[in-house]
Order: sequence, then structure tokens, then C-alpha cells
Amino acid sequence: MKKPTDVAIRRLEKSARGAAARAYAPYSRFPVGAAVIGGSGRVYAGCNVENASYGLCNCAERTAIFSAVAAGESSVKAVAIYTPTALPTAPCGACRQVINEFGPDAVVISVCDSKNRIETQLSALLPGAFGPGDLA
Ligand code: THU
Repeated sequence: MKKPTDVAIRRLEKSARGAAARAYAPYSRFPVGAAVIGGSGRVYAGCNVENASYGLCNCAERTAIFSAVAAGESSVKAVAIYTPTALPTAPCGACRQVINEFGPDAVVISVCDSKNRIETQLSALLPGAFGPGDLA
């Protein structure tokens, strides 16, 4: 799969920033925004959605990926995550596993409120991943 262009990545970051404003995070007070580029090239955004039953909280990355899949996408080329922090935040372990399901070769970008950023690959964040192929 072709790597997204710099312009596409910038657009993705902007979408992730915008999504954080819609976070429902009254318990952690830690809003997160995410956006993904689906196989079609379309962008899908998501935010964290918490619950009074804390274990049901859903991360921004998974909201964005589930939204992409619900819209008909079957793969993810890139994921951007925004947190309103001084340092960028990497996706949690559960989200790495979910990204792997649809984007084992995805680019993963974390941005924040400073110039600091992380640009990496899912395969570097989740080496030796268990995935769909292991069920064959
Ligand atoms: N959170 C995310 O949305 N993405 C991550 O990768 C890490 C954590 C959310 C979950 C919870 O709503 C809040 O941040 C604090 O953990």
C-alpha cells in the first residue's frame, strides 16, 4: 500500500486535533483525538468516549477505526493521535492491536501542543503482533 503524502498526513493531524474537542472525558479529563486514512483515502475522526462504568471507556483511536470500518473501509493506511500535552502520546496497547487488524503497515503519528511529534510504523509499536493470519 502506498505511503500517504505529507499533505495527507498534515490533513490527518488537523482532523485528529479537531476531534479532541468532541472528546467525552469527564472522568479522566484527558481528551484525545484521532483520525485515520482508510484504504479509499477518506479520513475518519474519533475521540475518546468514557463511561461511568470506567472499564467501558473507548479510546479515540478505536473510535476512529470503528467509524472507518462502519463506513465500509477494510484497511487503514495511517493513524494520527492528538493530545493536549507538551509531549506526544503513543497509542495504548489495546489500540495497537486494533490498528494491527486493519493496518499492519500503517504509519502512526502522534502530535501535541508543542513541536514534538512521533512518526513511526505500527510494526515498530507492536513487533511480533498476533493478527488475522495467525488464525489460518
Ligand atoms: N486514551 C485514548 O483515547 N487513547 C490512547 O491511546 C490512550 C488513552 C484515553 C482513554 C481514556 O479516556 C483517557 O485517554 C485516559 O486514559
